[in-house]
Amino acid sequence: MAKMRTVYNCGDCGASHHKWAGKCDSCGAWNSLVEDVEDPNEVTTLAAGMALVPPGEAQPINQLDAAVAKPMPTGISELDRVLDGGLVPGSVTLVGGEPGIGKSTLLLQLLSSWPTKSLYVTAEESAQQVRMRAERLHALRDDLWLLSEASITNIISAIEKVKPELIVIDSIQAVADPALGSAPGSVVQVRGCAHRLVQEAKRRNIPTILVGHVTKEGGLAGPRVLEHVVDTVLSFEGERHHALRIMRAVKHRFGSTSELGLFEMTELGLVGVPDASKMFLADRKPGTPGSVVVPTLEGQRPLLVEVQALTNATSGNAPARRSAQGLDPGRLAMLLAVLERRARISLSQHEVYASVVGGVKLNDPGSDLGLCLALVSAATNTPAPGDVVVCGEVGLGGEIRHVGHMSRRLAEAARLGFTRAIVPASGDYSQKGLTLQPASTLSEALAIAQLNGR
Ligand code: TYD
Ligand code: MG
Repeated sequence: MAKMRTVYNCGDCGASHHKWAGKCDSCGAWNSLVEDVEDPNEVTTLAAGMALVPPGEAQPINQLDAAVAKPMPTGISELDRVLDGGLVPGSVTLVGGEPGIGKSTLLLQLLSSWPTKSLYVTAEESAQQVRMRAERLHALRDDLWLLSEASITNIISAIEKVKPELIVIDSIQAVADPALGSAPGSVVQVRGCAHRLVQEAKRRNIPTILVGHVTKEGGLAGPRVLEHVVDTVLSFEGERHHALRIMRAVKHRFGSTSELGLFEMTELGLVGVPDASKMFLADRKPGTPGSVVVPTLEGQRPLLVEVQALTNATSGNAPARRSAQGLDPGRLAMLLAVLERRARISLSQHEVYASVVGGVKLNDPGSDLGLCLALVSAATNTPAPGDVVVCGEVGLGGEIRHVGHMSRRLAEAARLGFTRAIVPASGDYSQKGLTLQPASTLSEALAIAQLNGR
């Protein structure tokens, strides 16, 4: 038997190094290398697994049947939207997210709506804990089997015995192979166990879902280690103190990655939010200075969100405070500079707070103009018109630039009852129910919104 050897694996990307270093050569992460032991037999076991698969034969592409892998709906419509239809037989899906975001909750709900026999393997919680949660979620059913186990060998024998048609492993970091010398959660363990489960899923042709925790510190072997092993990577995101949860596909071998699913965490678990714009605007108080509605896009999905700003004059020479929530602070700083130079509105002697309501993160440059108007509205204590949405990217010259998918954004604004939109003058847009007010510069947009500065 070959000897175990010490290696240093990157907890972020999984790259293996022979020597310790402060920085991973492969992904550039700092302090991410962790000592591990590598078992040369792991490779042999994997090779043996591969040998079970019959040898492939090349075929003309036109003679292949493309319809073999039809997705099976999960019964959770927001999830099916992200998966482009559902779970494909034999596919392995990794669901990543920070602890406490709601991965176990969502998957338990999925298992309870799955039409056939399913197996939930909990490697972190006791079977009683899971049962209690399932009771609260009204997720108890005869076809849902539960196993509290962390050893991969025992998990695979349970799969053999139960013969489920859907498997959920919660979480892959807590599963370990006792034959591999390294600690549970290490790169070697996570990769080794995931490989075994992938083989099992392909061999039995059943969908398998692996839960993977992501921590900001990268303390555990991150899901990035597994991205190339699985077919689909879903990322479950949200602010812990907000109810909104967003599910995105980061990688999807069976469909598009552009859709996203929206959920709200409630007393009864996660509830799909088919009309997110309505939810985000529910608490809006039109007529408040500093509030502007922006039609943004999350993936392919149009969303109306409220951007808010608050400014406060400061005294003294210390740099005024800037705070951005749900927005890039660098973008806020740039827009403040553009406002000062191109529209002669200086907030250098003001504290500036800007935020996006509802726990949404705006990365869309189309929200620039809305944020500028919110800032000026706050600074001049003048409300922006309540029936207006604002969309456009702001350039360093103070020019308003075209943004993508305008028709989808404007249609969403019209659907929610807005009657006017300030849009880039360079585009040729139209939308039934909306009066479009084109602006080519920041100053023009401020004049249209009757926010003419001081
Ligand atoms: P959980 O699914 O355990 O998160 P993860 O598996 O991603 O670590 O969910 C954790 C949080 O969700 C927990 O703090 C409580 C909250 N929660 C609800 O608000 N409603 C519910 O019905 C459930 C089950 C959980
Ligand atoms: Mg969990």
